Amino acid sequence: MMQIAQLEFDREMVERAYDRWAPIYDLVFGGVFSKGRRAAILATNSIGGRVLEVGVGTGISLPQYAPNLRVFGTDISEAMLGKAKARVAELGLKNIEGLAVMDAEKLEFPDNSFDVVMAQYVVTAVPNPEAALNEFARVLRPGGEIILLSRVSADAGMRRFIEQWLQPVVRQLGWRSEFAWSRYAQWAAGAHGVELVERRPVPPLGHFSLIRFRKAA
Ligand SMILES: C[S@@+](CC[C@H](N)C(=O)[O-])C[C@H]1O[C@@H](n2cnc3c(N)ncnc32)[C@H](O)[C@@H]1O
Repeated sequence: MMQIAQLEFDREMVERAYDRWAPIYDLVFGGVFSKGRRAAILATNSIGGRVLEVGVGTGISLPQYAPNLRVFGTDISEAMLGKAKARVAELGLKNIEGLAVMDAEKLEFPDNSFDVVMAQYVVTAVPNPEAALNEFARVLRPGGEIILLSRVSADAGMRRFIEQWLQPVVRQLGWRSEFAWSRYAQWAAGAHGVELVERRPVPPLGHFSLIRFRKAA
């Protein structure tokens, strides 16, 4: 069942969905996710160094990175990235090393390139989340952290029922309502040399989590 859902979640569909979201994205998703983003950026700033933000979108988080960081942002939606580029130019952000169209599942960076790989509300939007997570671990330096903001769906009960029921609808909008913690746990248990450092619910409603994995030094 999960396999079929994954196959149906293709890159072109996600690209189209976010190209459509781009003009109104900040208006709709700016405030509602702001507390989670603040927590993720705080964790990133405390590590420092070179940061890859995958699925950077409109660049809504870019002004919050500490000035001494070097941040590279990637996304598959040209329209979302266009907004991010305009923001960097408008605010004169000097710590943004680059912004490029790139698939999270095929990152065009050498191994061990970044101190932090950060993805906010992205893992549940990519067609093959585990392939993207593999790439995050590959480009991360030993001792560095993967910092994620992610939907984590309920394991049982009415919420789980609603999330399953909503899945075909939200898929068209560009994300999954159903994404169990077991997928992260199974991925981390594979041979990636990562360990879970933190998993903490964040607003809205605690349906999302801040998740941190560290790559063994
Ligand atoms: C829900 S938005 C999150 C945007 C931003 N990170 C934020 O905090 O608001 C998901 C973003 O992931 C991007 N995305 C989806 N699939 C992707 C992929 N395979 N590779 C890179 N970016 C992807 C979308 O284009 C979109 O900009």
